[in-house]
Amino acid sequence: MTSEAPPTASGGVLSRSRAEHATLLASLPDLSGAPRRTPIEGSAGDRLRAATDTVIVIDYGGQYSQLIARRVRECGVFSELIPHHVPLAEIAARRPRGVILSGGPASVYAPGAPRLETGLLELGVPVLGICYGMQLLVHELGGRVEQAEVGEFGRSDLTVATHGTLLRDTPREQTCWMSHRDTVYEAPPGFTALAHTPTSPVAAFESAGRGIYGVQFHPEVVHTPYGQQILGRFLTEVCECPPTWSAASIVQEQIARIRAQVGEGRAICGLSGGVDSSVAALLVHRAIGERLTCVFVDHGLMRKDEGEQVIATFRDTFKVALVAVDAERRFLDRLRGVTEPEAKRKAIGAEFIRVFEEEAAKLVAAGVPRAGAGASGDRDASGEAAPARFLVQGTLYSDVIESGGGTGAATIKSHHNVGGLPDDLQFELVEPLRALFKDEVRAVGAELGLPERLVWRQPFPGPGLAIRVVGGEATRERLDVLREADHILQEEIRKAGLYRELWQSFCVLPDIRTVGVQGDERTYGHVVVIRAVTSDDAMTADWARLPYDLLEQIASRMIGELREVNRVVLDITSKPPGTIEWE
Ligand code: XMP
Repeated sequence: MTSEAPPTASGGVLSRSRAEHATLLASLPDLSGAPRRTPIEGSAGDRLRAATDTVIVIDYGGQYSQLIARRVRECGVFSELIPHHVPLAEIAARRPRGVILSGGPASVYAPGAPRLETGLLELGVPVLGICYGMQLLVHELGGRVEQAEVGEFGRSDLTVATHGTLLRDTPREQTCWMSHRDTVYEAPPGFTALAHTPTSPVAAFESAGRGIYGVQFHPEVVHTPYGQQILGRFLTEVCECPPTWSAASIVQEQIARIRAQVGEGRAICGLSGGVDSSVAALLVHRAIGERLTCVFVDHGLMRKDEGEQVIATFRDTFKVALVAVDAERRFLDRLRGVTEPEAKRKAIGAEFIRVFEEEAAKLVAAGVPRAGAGASGDRDASGEAAPARFLVQGTLYSDVIESGGGTGAATIKSHHNVGGLPDDLQFELVEPLRALFKDEVRAVGAELGLPERLVWRQPFPGPGLAIRVVGGEATRERLDVLREADHILQEEIRKAGLYRELWQSFCVLPDIRTVGVQGDERTYGHVVVIRAVTSDDAMTADWARLPYDLLEQIASRMIGELREVNRVVLDITSKPPGTIEWE
């Protein structure tokens, strides 16, 4: 595998291709200096494995290992991504129904290259090697893999000689996506070579008797048209996994697990209005009802009407006990005179924790959901007020993979002990999304009846509009101008049907004024910047090619409807070198 990246899905009309994003990403130096940590400890599967057929994807460092795990799940089979150095015993303990070996950047014969734990082939479960994973199998089992004079990158023509099980019902001639320099010249003894390309004499092989399969190409990317079908055949026919992993099954399973964890206890959830905390809250609410209290801190830095929408959805529609804190004044006071971006972030973050902890402390002290319909049952069996012991968080599987996780039910200590929380107060985390990718979270949200607007909400930064009022103080007046401009932008983008195609779309209000002329009058007004980007993960992004007519409509509405605005400009910077936000 090289830094050349296969496209992973069809890009929308607005976007640069995903391959280009990935290539950009690969070109970035890792400045963190942090060792790559592993997700094995308390991994996502901890809570699901027992009841769900699992296929394990062993990660050899390929750029698309996560994508393999997602594609497996799209086939209705739960999958977990495990780093290659995890001991075999831990993999065996997971009782997988199958194992997939991912691609990776190394050469199998290079010193220090990740090796195949041979015991893996003795576990008695089917194994599928992809790219580097296939080469590992060949190397280990006595076939021939060597560096080729020319690598094979991009689209290739695949000719099927023998369909075997893996390629059954696919055409004799098809295309596939390749990304390798080392090449398999001979399959191991006893294996059947299934297919070749002009540069790969063995592009797929199998030994159905031993339950070992391999493909040199990448079935997980959309540019291998039969890739999903090939993965599906491995999962359903070879591993015999029924396709039972679905939004409905996740909901059922999670509810049972939350009940088992929380018992008769109480939980608190900080609700931001974003899809993760919303779905986590709804799942927990389904599981424990009014013993969950959500806390929504309105810092006055939200988009127009957003606070009201969150309150209406959770309190009125879902009947969730909700404490809504109007803390706008507090935050604006705290932000007075603060202009430096990181200082703004820190001020908002610190204030947020302070407000949240004050509310949590009140709830803990009272042992009751303070607000919301029908908040009864606020005493435990002995008649004592039951403190909230659990804190709900919308941690996602990608967070687990990237951060190395922690134990599944980690105990965190409230570190900013400002609101009267007892010194030793600890919450146990409830993380019902810990095993889910973002698209699965949205599917679960839809399954739970979350309104489309919340399910598909674009990411919104915690510090909100304050970091979009750029180059100066976030005053109420400037925030209001920005909020109105942003509202027009969102309305027009939704009307044009482009909202979901964009990773983010928003306005920025720089601290400059320009001269204009409206009617017969000279104006001296604000400039609004339109920022709209496409992206897969916010690591790289491209400016969205919004249609000219749409841009014109947005600009003329902003200037016509907002007295303070007399100029609208478009940000055409990609990331890198820019960032998505301006501060
Ligand atoms: P940048 O601007 O770094 O943003 O390209 C990448 C993604 O992160 C979001 N972002 C934030 N989210 N707190 C957040 O919760 C923050 O301080 C923050 N800054 C940036 C940004 O909106 C984009 O999705």
